[in-house]
Amino acid sequence: MKALVLAGGTGSRLRPITHTAAKQLVPVANKPVLFYGIESLVAAGVTEIGIVVGDTAEEIRAAVGDGARFGAEVTYLRQERPLGLAHAVLVAREWLGDDDFVMYLGDNFVVGGISGLVADFREHRPEAGILLTKVSDPTVFGVAELAADGGVLSLQEKPSQPRSDLALVGVYLFTPAVHEAVRAIEPSDRGELEITDALQWLLDHDHAVQATVVTGYWKDTGNVLDMLEVNRSVLDTLDGTVAGSVDAESQLVGRVRVEEGARVERSRIVGPAVIGAGSVVRDSYIGPSTSVAGGCLIEGSEVEFSIVLDGCRIDRAGRIEGSLLGRTVHVTGAPRAPRAHRLVLGDHSRVHLTT
Ligand code: G1P
Repeated sequence: MKALVLAGGTGSRLRPITHTAAKQLVPVANKPVLFYGIESLVAAGVTEIGIVVGDTAEEIRAAVGDGARFGAEVTYLRQERPLGLAHAVLVAREWLGDDDFVMYLGDNFVVGGISGLVADFREHRPEAGILLTKVSDPTVFGVAELAADGGVLSLQEKPSQPRSDLALVGVYLFTPAVHEAVRAIEPSDRGELEITDALQWLLDHDHAVQATVVTGYWKDTGNVLDMLEVNRSVLDTLDGTVAGSVDAESQLVGRVRVEEGARVERSRIVGPAVIGAGSVVRDSYIGPSTSVAGGCLIEGSEVEFSIVLDGCRIDRAGRIEGSLLGRTVHVTGAPRAPRAHRLVLGDHSRVHLTT
């Protein structure tokens, strides 16, 4: 069995949170979301991985490399234009050969991995396997309609009148039967070859499509709170290890990971939390569910339930909560008059001030 990981497309929904153009490299608990996908494939015993890349190919390649550090063998497959998920299968046709494969959208996050699902597929081997999850707004997903016995009745891509609240999660299991389906379908209204339509084609031609409903699913929809929540759920599974230094006047409570070269001085950190490599936390409080990436300086401040990306400086900033700071953001308290907010914000920034 092989894996086809889709890592084209840009992260416009997350602007300006990240400088990275590739949405698959958005960090969750200081690690790109794509890495969790690759790790869960390897954990499921799938190590031959083809990554479909587009305009952000160089960024993805620089992050993932040849896959050796994941215990995988990665091949890059170029999709010249983003013509749809089913088009990516066409692009990968030769590389896939006649193997079964997992198709994994690199910006999706399935809490708890996919090992059980892959094992189940290998055992029963329907023509295709899909994962579904309940969502509050099905109109932005592929949507499945199920029979009372759990059989799949129909699949629709981003319907304006959804027949259920069960969305297609971006992890699919296929036998080579899908190749005929992706060749047979026509582009959708958005001009893409939809994998949802290929699955519907399989259903229409009496092929077995088996659905499994999962919980613990995340995909960036541009919602900061969702991102903080997935960060929280991953931090909850972390081991607290201290590779950096913590001075005698500091206190770590619960699971706190202090990465290599990080320094904690005269501070209190309540986990789950991670302090990234080379970051300095001084005279500060870091509260639960907080990820501080590498090379940050947090001084004389309080940060809780937040994600702070690389190279940020938070200095006498009071208390920051429920926040997401992009790379090299500076937040500085200004104790002197005039008492005014001075802001230099990038496009699409959002600021909530306590006045
Ligand atoms: C794609 C699929 C959609 C699926 C979603 C999951 O949507 O077309 O059916 O529910 O991935 O991430 P897109 O990311 O292209 O909007």
